[in-house]
Amino acid sequence: MRLDPFQLERYFGQYEFSVEFPLAASDCDGLSLAELLSLADVPTRNLWETLQLGYTETQGHPLLRREIAGLYQGCEPDQVLVAAPEELIFIAANCLVRNGDHVVCTFPGYQSLYSIAESLHAEVSRWEPDEANGWRFDPERLAQLIRPSTRLIVLNFPHNPTGCLPGFDDYERILEIATTYGITVLSDEMYRLLERDEGDRLPAAVELYEKALSLSGVSKTLGLAGLRIGWLVVRDERLMRRLIELKDYTTICSSAPSEILALIGLRARQSILVRHRERIERNLGLLGGFMAKYEPLFSWVPPRAGTVCFPRFKPAALGTPELCRMALDEAGVMLAPSTLFDYGERHLRIGVGRENFPEGLLRLSTFLTSRRAG
Ligand SMILES: Cc1ncc(COP(=O)(O)O)c(C=O)c1O
Repeated sequence: MRLDPFQLERYFGQYEFSVEFPLAASDCDGLSLAELLSLADVPTRNLWETLQLGYTETQGHPLLRREIAGLYQGCEPDQVLVAAPEELIFIAANCLVRNGDHVVCTFPGYQSLYSIAESLHAEVSRWEPDEANGWRFDPERLAQLIRPSTRLIVLNFPHNPTGCLPGFDDYERILEIATTYGITVLSDEMYRLLERDEGDRLPAAVELYEKALSLSGVSKTLGLAGLRIGWLVVRDERLMRRLIELKDYTTICSSAPSEILALIGLRARQSILVRHRERIERNLGLLGGFMAKYEPLFSWVPPRAGTVCFPRFKPAALGTPELCRMALDEAGVMLAPSTLFDYGERHLRIGVGRENFPEGLLRLSTFLTSRRAG
């Protein structure tokens, strides 16, 4: 297997930790350790203080798996595998995809969702949304992409980078198509729970379809990316055994402190989520004002869920790689050009999960105004 460099991650690696305003970030601000521990209930606080730093169970700490299973209707702790989200994408693709398979994946998107399958010599068809129609992914287009050799459909809703969240009818139709052909679904739900209107929340794919795997984690929604804790929920017992066997070749087990801290975060999720949704709403309000002010330069579809959106930059004379480079060099603002998503050079990703977003947006605005005047 030969993997291409992960373009977005390399770009973040280069700038994220030195730039003043990482306006492209897809996570919510990280909680401090002290803050998280202050949210612990008595039993988890006790677990933390008496924690032994040996190996942990490969499938994940039983209490953590129980907490996670409780997030899904009809799922049991044995149907949960804990690992880093990115690791789980790697493990799942390696279990599910073979040489010569056909895979359909939402696109543009998080690169590993399709790159790993390609590196395993699968042919990947890109299922693209319609920008003019609010970045809608048309299920009938998905149906057209299915072939006799299609072995896997990879979904990511709420979607990174467009912020698309399908309506219930479209979502049901997507899973109906998978069911009709008996195709396994890998559903990346990393941004689930961050719907702007909770009434829009879709059921997890694993709740609706027995051949679906739902992926989530604490990185984006709970602002705990540094724990490197995520999970797959899987109903097929044999597949779960295979996934566990592969984890023996990646990390063997998850970090003991991280498992307990993730448990604390999950038990305190209501208060953390309220705070994050409020921040996202505030930032989207400001971004709406920005987009109205710079209407000659940008068009955008406000996201219905998650932390990111994918505005279009209109001036044909300048591509977004160049625009983003100037914003970085001249204003200390990091945006992500669509070239990182292999999606031309007319779009850029903006993330609204960070606390210093208002200051960053102001800096971007000052930069654009001075450039237009110049
Ligand atoms: C859609 C999606 N899936 C998976 C991941 C990987 O999550 P993590 O960085 O926590 O491993 C990301 C991270 O940006 C993502 O956006």
